Amino acid sequence: MKLVRTRQELTEIVTQWHKDGETIGLVPTMGSLHEGHLTLVRELDGKATRRIVTIFVNPIQFNNPDDFQLYPRGLDADEALLAQTGVVDVLYAPDETQIYPPGFCTRITVSGPDKMLCGGDRPGHFDGVATIVTKLFMQTRADIAAFGEKDFQQLCIIRRMVTDLDLPVTILPVPTVREADHLALSSRNRRLTAAQRQQATHLPQALQDCLAALKAGKPVAATLERCTQTLKDAGFAVHYLDLRSEKTLAPSEKADPGTRLFVAASLGDIRLIDNMPLA
Ligand code: PAJ
Repeated sequence: MKLVRTRQELTEIVTQWHKDGETIGLVPTMGSLHEGHLTLVRELDGKATRRIVTIFVNPIQFNNPDDFQLYPRGLDADEALLAQTGVVDVLYAPDETQIYPPGFCTRITVSGPDKMLCGGDRPGHFDGVATIVTKLFMQTRADIAAFGEKDFQQLCIIRRMVTDLDLPVTILPVPTVREADHLALSSRNRRLTAAQRQQATHLPQALQDCLAALKAGKPVAATLERCTQTLKDAGFAVHYLDLRSEKTLAPSEKADPGTRLFVAASLGDIRLIDNMPLA
């Protein structure tokens, strides 16, 4: 595995790969890697002949400067983890100058889906995501790119953008990887204290209980309210707990297949998100 720090070196490599008829698989990340990220890398097995993982903590998708500063970082450990997989050809870890040249002022907006759920209390977040992901698609010239369902809204927004802008890349969705107690793996989990980590287990538990009640035919609004209260009682600040269409992300009053529960809740200043499908 080669560690590449500049856009120029990356361009030379991917141009040669395309000449040689290779197909390029991409896993964009912000580092602090865990088994969820590594699963995305493995899901490209048989779907690409070359694999690039990118690590870039993207400043323009953080609407809170403290969250950007506190975001966990550790390139050496990440590099070792990726090398161990034995299947990554390039780790692209650019610094800001390679991504945002002086005067950079373009943003990509996926209007509508970017205002819902996490877009509501993180204004500009999804513009930042759409912009960096497009740039990474262009810089890596990826044929296929893997994204986790853990960030389901992000996945929906990227798919919409790829369709709308005719971007020549296939999006590969990957189901959420969880701990033994079902907490979704996340780089942010590293910031939880031992006590918060114990509390955090209530998040997937509440979603599972909520799903069970909805499947048993309990009314949607009352069930969501009860689960929200359970999370509050467990010490969470709940930003939303919603049942929504998987396709459009529009709120759903009926618990049909094709709907999904979405939650964002904080423990102290650590914001956790999760989602689970009804069917
Ligand atoms: P990051 O949070 O590092 O996640 C990188 C990729 O890993 C995303 O596609 C995310 O959905 C996936 N992922 C994270 N945890 C996962 C889990 N438990 N199971 C499955 N997949 C998981 O998402 C971002 O970075 C950034 O917004 C990015 C797309 C890189 C743009 O900056």
